[in-house]
Amino acid sequence: MNCGQQYPVDQIIYNCATCGGLLDVQHDMDYLRKSVSRQLFDQRLGTLEAPYNSGVWRYKELIYPDVPDDCIVSRPEGNTNLYRTPRLAEWAGVAQLYLKHEGENPTGSFKDRGMTGGLTQARLLGVRRVACASTGNTSASLAAYAAWAGIEGIVFFQNQQIALGKLAQAIAYGATGIQINADFDRNLELVREVADNLGVYVLNSVNPFRLEGQKSIMIETIQQLRWQVPDWIVVPGGNLGNSSAFGKALHELKALGLIDRLPRLAIIQAEGASPLYQSYQRGLDHLDPMHAETIATAIKIGNPVNYAKAVRALHWTDGVVEAVTDQEIMDAKALIDRQGIGCEPASACSLVGVQKLVRMGIIKPTDTVVGVLTGHVLKDADAVINYHSNALDHIHANYPNQLHQSEANVEALRAILESREAILQ
Ligand code: F0G
Repeated sequence: MNCGQQYPVDQIIYNCATCGGLLDVQHDMDYLRKSVSRQLFDQRLGTLEAPYNSGVWRYKELIYPDVPDDCIVSRPEGNTNLYRTPRLAEWAGVAQLYLKHEGENPTGSFKDRGMTGGLTQARLLGVRRVACASTGNTSASLAAYAAWAGIEGIVFFQNQQIALGKLAQAIAYGATGIQINADFDRNLELVREVADNLGVYVLNSVNPFRLEGQKSIMIETIQQLRWQVPDWIVVPGGNLGNSSAFGKALHELKALGLIDRLPRLAIIQAEGASPLYQSYQRGLDHLDPMHAETIATAIKIGNPVNYAKAVRALHWTDGVVEAVTDQEIMDAKALIDRQGIGCEPASACSLVGVQKLVRMGIIKPTDTVVGVLTGHVLKDADAVINYHSNALDHIHANYPNQLHQSEANVEALRAILESREAILQ
C-alpha cells in the first residue's frame, strides 16, 4: 500500500519485502467497471444458490473475482440485519440511526466475513494449518471455518482475558487452543514468528484476503439502504482491520460508480485502549503503542497492526476518531440489549460514540447514521450478569435489570410483580 510493489496472489507474504508496509489486494478496476452494477447485486438478493447466498460472495467480483466457486469456504455468512432504531436515535440525538448487526453471523461476529475470504485463500494455497492471535472472536471464527474446510486451526490468546463464549467456541470447533502469558499485541508477534518457522498460514487481519471479505459489511449496508449513502458510519476500533476494510470498500464503490459520495467514518476506541485516538489528537503523526486495559476485551489492543490503513481510511472519508469510557460502553450496551437486539461490550462503542459526536457538534442532529454492532450478546455473558448485579469494579449500572428471588408461592410472586409494576410506571 505504500511503495506500489506488486506480488502475485499465490505468494504467502504479509508485509512488503521492499518497504515493510501492509499489503492490499489490488483489483482490476477497469475490468470491474464493465462487469458490476447495482442491478447485478440486486438480482442476487434472496437466492438460495451458493456462493451468492452469502452476504460476502454476493459481491464476489469485488471480493475475489476469479476464485472457482467450489473452492469457496462459506457457512454462508453475512445477510445480517440493518435495524432502524428510533428510540436509540432519540437517545443519541440523531434523526435516523441504523444498527448493522454483525453479531448475526454464523459464529456471532463480523470476523466470519473475513474468515470466509481467509480460509478460501488458504484452500487455494493448499496450506494444512492456519493460525491467529485473538482477543476471542477471530479465534472462534477461525476455529469454525478451519473445521468446515478440513484444515487445522491454531489459536493463541491471552490467559484469562478472553470472554467465555469465545473460548468455548474455539474449543468446541476443535482448534488447537494455546493460552499464553502475554497480551494480544505480543501474541500477534508470536504467531508471525511461528508462521515463519513452522509453515503456518496467518489469518489475522494483516492478511489482506480477510479484509476483502470484511469490505462486504459496507457494501451490504449500502445495498440495504437501496444504495443511498448514509452521512456517517460509526465502528469500534481495535486492531483496525474493520475500519481499514470499510475505507477500502467505500473508496472502491465510489471509484466504480456504485455510490456517488462517501459517508464519513467515525472510529470509536475504548479510552484504555486508544492508541489511534491519541495519534488522531496529534494530527495522525505516528502510532505510540500503549498498554491496553478495558472491559471490552475484544478491543483490548495497544498496538494495532492496521494503523496505516486506518489512517488512509480516515483520509479518504474525512473521518474522525473518538474514545469512550468503560462506564459509557456498559451503559450503552445495556440500552442496546434492552431493545431486544443485544451486543457484546465492544460493539456498544458505536452507540455511545454517536451520542458523544452529536454532543460535540461533529455529527449533526439531522444526519443519517449507521452504527456497526460487531459481536453477539452471548459472547460475553459474564459482562451482562456482572453489570446488572452491579458487580463490576469502577462501573455503576445506570440501567440495571436486577434478578429477583422468590419463594414458590403466589403471594411472594405477587409482591415482586406489583413492586415491579410500580417501578415500570
Ligand atoms: N468488536 C469486536 C466484537 C471484536 O471482536 C473486534 C476485534 C473489534 C470490534 C475490533 O475490530 O480489530 O477490526 O478494529 N477483535 C479481534 C479478535 C482483534 O481477535 O477477535 P478491529
